[in-house]
Amino acid sequence: MTTTATAHTNIALIKYWGKKDPILNLPTTSSISLTLNEFYTRTTVSQNASADELLINGQPFDSQRIHRFLDMLRDTLGDFAPLTVASENHVPTGAGLASSASAFAALTGAVTRELGLELDNMTLSRLARRGSGSASRSFYGHFAIWHEGHDDASSFAESLHAPDMPIALVVAEVSTAMKKVGSTEGMRRAATSPDYATWVQNSAAQLRDMQAAIQASDIEKIGTIAEANALAMHDLNRTARLDPFTYFTNDTTDILTLVADMRRQGLLAFATLDAGPNVKIITTQAHAPLIVSQLQAAMPDLHLEIATSGAGIHYDD
Ligand code: DP6
Repeated sequence: MTTTATAHTNIALIKYWGKKDPILNLPTTSSISLTLNEFYTRTTVSQNASADELLINGQPFDSQRIHRFLDMLRDTLGDFAPLTVASENHVPTGAGLASSASAFAALTGAVTRELGLELDNMTLSRLARRGSGSASRSFYGHFAIWHEGHDDASSFAESLHAPDMPIALVVAEVSTAMKKVGSTEGMRRAATSPDYATWVQNSAAQLRDMQAAIQASDIEKIGTIAEANALAMHDLNRTARLDPFTYFTNDTTDILTLVADMRRQGLLAFATLDAGPNVKIITTQAHAPLIVSQLQAAMPDLHLEIATSGAGIHYDD
C-alpha cells in the first residue's frame, strides 16, 4: 500500500521566533500564518522490508532530521516497519519560504495514514511541530494559528476560519552568497537580545490585533501588523548579545525602501521576511501585478512570484 499527501507551505504573519522547550519544540509565542496555494510538497510513503529510505525529487537523500523525526513517530505512535518516503518539492528552494513547513506536514499526514491511523489535523499538527514548528500550521487552508501552549498536548495549530479575501503575496527572491543561519540557530541567538522579553510581550498584543484584522478581512491592517512584527523579529537578530547577525543584504534594504515608496503611491504593500534575505510583500490580488512590474523595473535581476491563499493538507485516494 502507498499513501500520498500534499501540504502547502505557509508564511507567518505573526512570527514564531524562539523556543521555550527545544525538545518538544514549544515556542515562546503563538503565531499566525497564511497557507500558500502555489508552493507545496507532495509526499508518498510506502512500507518496505529493509530500512527507512528518503528520496527528494527522485534523488536519494540523507537527512538526520527526518530520520530522527521518523524515530520520534515510532516512539509516540508505536513501532512501524521501515518506510520509503518519496517527496516532490514544489517550493522554489531559493524563495526563502520554509520548505520544512510543507515537508514535515506532508510527511506526518502520509505516514500516519499509511499506518491506518485517522488522526485529526490538531493531533497531526502536534506531531509535525516536533519536526519543524512552522509545519504545525500547514495542515489548514488560508489562515491558521499555532497556540504556543505549555506542554505537548496544548501546543497545536488550528484554523482561524477566516472569511474569503483577495490577499496575495509577492515573493522577491534575493540571491546571496552569504552563509545561512538556520532557523533553530537564529532563534537561539535572538533569544539573547535584551529586547527579547519585550518582543514576546508585543507579539501577544499583535496576535490579538491580527486575529481581529483577519476576521474583518482588513488586508491593509493585516499587512501593517505583519510588517511591524517581522521587522521587530529581525531587530532581535541584530541586537543579540550572543553572535549578533542579520539576514538582510543590500538588496533586502533596497526592496524595503521600494515597498515604502509604493505605499506612498497608494499601493497596498507591506513587507515580511523569514530566516533569509528574501522579501515577501503582502498585498491584494489586484495590486500584486503592479508591485511585480515596479520591482522588476527597479531591479531587473530580481526573481518574483505571486502566491495566493491556499488549501490545507489533502490526500490522493
Ligand atoms: C522565521 O519552523 O523553520 O519562518 O522549528 O526550528 O524547524 P524549527 O523552525 P522553523 O522556523 C520558522 C521561523 C520563521 C517564522 C515562522 O514561520 O513562524
